[in-house]
Amino acid sequence: MNQDELKKAAALAALEEIRTLAQGAIVGVGTGSTVNHFIDALAGCGLRGAVPSSEASARRLAAHGIPLVSLDDIGAGTLPFYVDGADEIDPGFNMIKGGGGALTREKIVAAVARRFICICDASKKVAILGNFPLPVEVIPMARVQVGHEIARLTGGIPRWREGFVTDNANHILDVSGLAIDDPRTLESELNQIAGVVTNGLFARRGADVLLLATASGIERSARPG
Ligand code: A5P
Repeated sequence: MNQDELKKAAALAALEEIRTLAQGAIVGVGTGSTVNHFIDALAGCGLRGAVPSSEASARRLAAHGIPLVSLDDIGAGTLPFYVDGADEIDPGFNMIKGGGGALTREKIVAAVARRFICICDASKKVAILGNFPLPVEVIPMARVQVGHEIARLTGGIPRWREGFVTDNANHILDVSGLAIDDPRTLESELNQIAGVVTNGLFARRGADVLLLATASGIERSARPG
């Protein structure tokens, strides 16, 4: 199987995971090429609606006739689950996300879900996070200053994702050269820098279930501990 077939296999496994719960439910939907397969598979499975984590996912859901629901509509309630991909996931189910630039809305929707189901092909499983450059969403006027501060704080090398504007009208810095042995602490520290909207570490709210597509099939595992 090629990588796209593996992504599709992970997405279909997620559909199986939620199928009985999906009838009449509102679910959180992530962003990216793996999730696109999930959205396509969701069509006709009886969802009441979906909360999308990006304009791109909203458009794809709408094209399938799946009702879009905002977090305001959810009020003080929660979503039964949130399904999304990852750029890297470590053995503790901490993730780097935001390769597609949707990290902030992904983090917001994931925060109101009771269960985060991560769908990935096997290439995303790593021993330590950081080989994939860590995306950081920044307020445009603060971009240069935030870059200096991130370099000082982490020793990493921030690079502006030039020409890319997020759904929130912000910019992205991709930080390379990191070996992230304490993702929870780094996630918090980066978010303290004035001008950072959020960063792509999902450690404080990591995945609960991983559906990993490998050449020999789907490996399902729950967050350790
Ligand atoms: C989007 O901003 C990301 O967080 C994606 O979830 C992540 O990049 C995985 O994307 P793919 O499924 O396209 O690999």
